[in-house]
Amino acid sequence: MNDVIKLLNAHRSIRKFTDEAIDQATVEALVQAGQCAATSSFIQACTVIQVSQGEVRDRLAICAGNQAYVASAPVFLVFCADMKRLKLACDMHDAEMLSGYTEQFITTSLDCALFAQNVVIAAESLGLGCTYIGGIRNQIAEVADLLELPELVYPVFGLCIGHPAQNPEAKPRLPLSVILKQERYNDSEDQARIAEYDQHVREYYATRTGGQKSMTWSEQMSDMLVKESRPHMLPFLQSRGFIKH
Ligand SMILES: Cc1cc2nc3c(=O)[nH]c(=O)nc-3n(C[C@H](O)[C@H](O)[C@H](O)COP(=O)(O)O)c2cc1C
Repeated sequence: MNDVIKLLNAHRSIRKFTDEAIDQATVEALVQAGQCAATSSFIQACTVIQVSQGEVRDRLAICAGNQAYVASAPVFLVFCADMKRLKLACDMHDAEMLSGYTEQFITTSLDCALFAQNVVIAAESLGLGCTYIGGIRNQIAEVADLLELPELVYPVFGLCIGHPAQNPEAKPRLPLSVILKQERYNDSEDQARIAEYDQHVREYYATRTGGQKSMTWSEQMSDMLVKESRPHMLPFLQSRGFIKH
């Protein structure tokens, strides 16, 4: 295994950071590494907003469901899917951009995910730790106001970056046999394999929490997926011109 694969295998989200600052040159190097990710049809649709510690950051932490590390992380970035810049490109050629396609929502959101994952890998390669913050979509309209996002721009997720002040074990992932299928979709053995995996996850949580949390993966999913999933997202995206058809 080479060093890149070892680094990827060692990933874990970090939610406690030391006070050590990250210099701006490093932040810019990370974001430039993000820019090097593949981008659908070269659209380069990700815009990153760096939010320094202070009032707006504190509000973002509240919007994200009171996630304290959003306020305290040395660096906090918000990744935005940005069709506005693409409109500008069209305007430069007197071309009327057709917007609001679900396909554009997918490609711009994917651009953000690939971009951000490059940032995370680059940060981890420097010994930094990160956590994605999808929680900012809990109150996405307020987040958009706080960041003064115009129409055709939406915040996909945030990212905390800092020097780790904790060293959690990597979370066990589903067995490869469940994830990697050969030639066609076949899930006939998945239930048995998931049941086995569930026990690893239970042990992982028990060890990590000193026996306080006992939860399997399938229990976690079944708790979560019986609840509505941010039903305000569609009306929000529609109100911003992001999804029409
Ligand atoms: C798009 C996205 C949004 C996430 N949002 C949050 C979040 O709001 N808060 C949080 O603590 N972790 C968040 N996470 C981190 C996941 O909970 C974490 O990646 C997952 O549990 C696996 O753990 P690991 O990253 O330590 O391997 C998010 C991850 C992704 C990819």
